[in-house]
Amino acid sequence: PSNGLARTPPMGWSSWNKFAEAIDDKTVREIADALVRSGLRDAGYVYVNIDDGWQGERGADGVLRPNAKFPDMKALADYVHARGLKLGIYSSPGPKSCAGYTGSYGHVEQDARTWADWGIDYLKYDLCSGEGFYHTAETVKATYQQMGAALAAAQSATGRPIVYSLCEYGRFDVGAWGRDVGGNLWRTTGDIEDSYASMSAIGFDKNGVPRHTGPGGWNDPDMLEVGNGGMSVEEYRTHISLWAMMAAPLLMGNDVRAMTRETLALLGNAEVIAVDQDPLGRQGLPVLKRDGTEVWTRPLADGSVAVALFNRTDAPVTLSADWPALGLGDHPRVRDLWAHRSVAPGTAQTVPAHGVVMVRATR
Ligand code: GLA
Repeated sequence: PSNGLARTPPMGWSSWNKFAEAIDDKTVREIADALVRSGLRDAGYVYVNIDDGWQGERGADGVLRPNAKFPDMKALADYVHARGLKLGIYSSPGPKSCAGYTGSYGHVEQDARTWADWGIDYLKYDLCSGEGFYHTAETVKATYQQMGAALAAAQSATGRPIVYSLCEYGRFDVGAWGRDVGGNLWRTTGDIEDSYASMSAIGFDKNGVPRHTGPGGWNDPDMLEVGNGGMSVEEYRTHISLWAMMAAPLLMGNDVRAMTRETLALLGNAEVIAVDQDPLGRQGLPVLKRDGTEVWTRPLADGSVAVALFNRTDAPVTLSADWPALGLGDHPRVRDLWAHRSVAPGTAQTVPAHGVVMVRATR
C-alpha cells in the first residue's frame, strides 16, 4: 500500500557524507536552522536525515534507545517540525547497521512504531550485517517487504506516514519491486565519494532502469557531495545537473551551516530544482554520446524539454544542440538554467572541462 509520499523526488539533507558517525543532536538542530536561514528549506530541501550513528541499545522492553549523542529524539523531531522541516532516521534489517550500531533484526514492527511515535518522517533502511541471511532476490525483497508493512501499520496506528528509502545498492533488480514493498526510493549503486571519478561513474552510467522512476518511487543514485571540497565548481555543477536530469532525490551531504556563496548558488538554483521536481517525473536520458560529450534530454510536464550538454573531457569543447533532431523544431525558445538568461537557439555553447550547459527548451 502506498503512503502517498514522494510524488516528486525527496529533497533535504543527510548527515553521512560530511559527518559520518560524528553527528549529534546539537549539529542536527544547527543544520535545521541553517536550512531555514539559507533559504534552502524554501527552495524545497525539507528532510533533515540522521544517517548511521544515532542508535544506542535496546531496553528491557525491547525498545531501541538513541545513544548519548541524541538525548531525546521526540524533542529533536519537535524542534525540526517547528521549523517547517521533517526528520529522517536510519536503520538496517540485520543485527547491526553498516557502521556497527544496533539494527532492527527481530524488532522490525517495534522499531517502526517507535519511530512513528517519535515523529520520524523518513527511514533509510540499509542492508547491512544481514548479508548472511539476505543474499537472494527473494530474501532481500522479503526483508524490505517486512519493514514496508511495519511502516504502513505504524502509520495506521499513529497517523504518521514515513518515506521509505531502500538501500541495497541496486542489486536484485530493486527498481522492479521497490514500489511493491512500499518503497519511495531505492539506491541504484554503491556509495558515492567526493570525487569526479566516483560522481561521474554513477551519474552518467548507474541511473537504474528509467521506467522504474516516477511519482511515488524513485531511482536513487545516492546523496549529493556538492560543497564537500573534492570537486571543482564545474564538476559540482555537473553533479547537480545530472541528478536533476535523472529526477534523482536531492539529499545534500555538506555542512550547510558553513557554505560558500558558490555552493549555495549550486544547491539553491530554483530553475534546476524545478527540472528535478518536475511533476511528470520522467527520468532524463542520454540521446547522443560522442568524443567524451553527452547530450541528455528530459521531457517536462509543460511540454518543454530539459537539455543538458555534458563535457566529460579534460578540455573545453564547443557544442550545439540539434533542435530538430531533439523534436523541438528549428527555433525553440531556449533558457540557460545556470546563466539565468535566454539564449538564441543556434548559439554554439562552450562547455568547460567536466562541465555542463543546461537549458530548458520550448518548441
Ligand atoms: C552504507 C550506505 C551509506 C551510509 C553508510 C552508513 O555504506 O550506503 O550511504 O548510510 O552505510 O554506515
